[in-house]
Amino acid sequence: MDKVLVVGSLNMDFAVYMDRRPQAGETVMAQGMKLVPGGKGANQAYALGKLGAKTSMIGAVGTDTFGQQMLKNLETVSVNTAGIQKIAGVETGKAFIEIENSGQNSISVIAGANAAVDEQMVLAQEEYFRQTDAVVMQLEIPVPAVIAAAKLAKAHGKTVVLDPAPARKDLPDELWAQVDITKPNETELALLTGMPTGTEEEVLTAARALIAKGVKYVLVTLGGDGTLLVSDSRVEKFPAYKVKAVDTTAAGDCFLAAFMSRFDGQNFAEAIDFGAKASAIAVTRQGAQTSIPTVEEVQNFQ
Ligand code: RIB
Repeated sequence: MDKVLVVGSLNMDFAVYMDRRPQAGETVMAQGMKLVPGGKGANQAYALGKLGAKTSMIGAVGTDTFGQQMLKNLETVSVNTAGIQKIAGVETGKAFIEIENSGQNSISVIAGANAAVDEQMVLAQEEYFRQTDAVVMQLEIPVPAVIAAAKLAKAHGKTVVLDPAPARKDLPDELWAQVDITKPNETELALLTGMPTGTEEEVLTAARALIAKGVKYVLVTLGGDGTLLVSDSRVEKFPAYKVKAVDTTAAGDCFLAAFMSRFDGQNFAEAIDFGAKASAIAVTRQGAQTSIPTVEEVQNFQ
């Protein structure tokens, strides 16, 4: 896709690195903390911009320093940030991320300005929908805003992409009916559908439940087991690349953005492979937007 509009969240990430995450009631010593630009929407916009797609973003930040830093970082990769509202008196979104040596993490998000993204804000920016090829959304802004964006994108005949994260079980059918492509991991797929996803057969059945709601393509990311593409007429598995992960934050964001930067509307294989390579590189680096590779790095990855 040449032109992509991201409608979603921006968070400043407080990334804390530790040997292992604490259990309930336990205190552990951490090795250090980094402030890194993040947020699922902003990560995807940043990665799209860095990987060469003409990208615009709609969202909201506060008028604080974090908000300014977030916008500046997106602008370094030529993302058009004019559609991101600066809201006085509200803090920019924040995410608190515990990352253990295995690369696995736990994330808590304070929505801040992201919670102010509403239907009206989306509809007021219809021009962006007219000018794009695809609209990419996640679930860190209020669901009514996501539904409004999906419907507007559909009304303009654009490809509607939903990263259903953080996953929730109350998403209305009205939203699923607009979606062309969704990218849950197995855990998210289980939550979204209320179905088990412990085996590949179960994953397939759950993915088909989303197809039955009107989604055209479900890309289930299976971690080290690759990606399963499911449509009403197709089931195909694509491999992952094995690397030593140090931080999996934003790996899914990087996968989706890299996929979209290469997807021509039909040829899934090459775009999924590009996404798999980009996210394999991202997990070998610390942080969200700091982990996104360049086009050359992805092309040279083996
Ligand atoms: O997907 C990773 C992102 O989730 C982090 O950057 C954090 O901000 C949370 O939104």
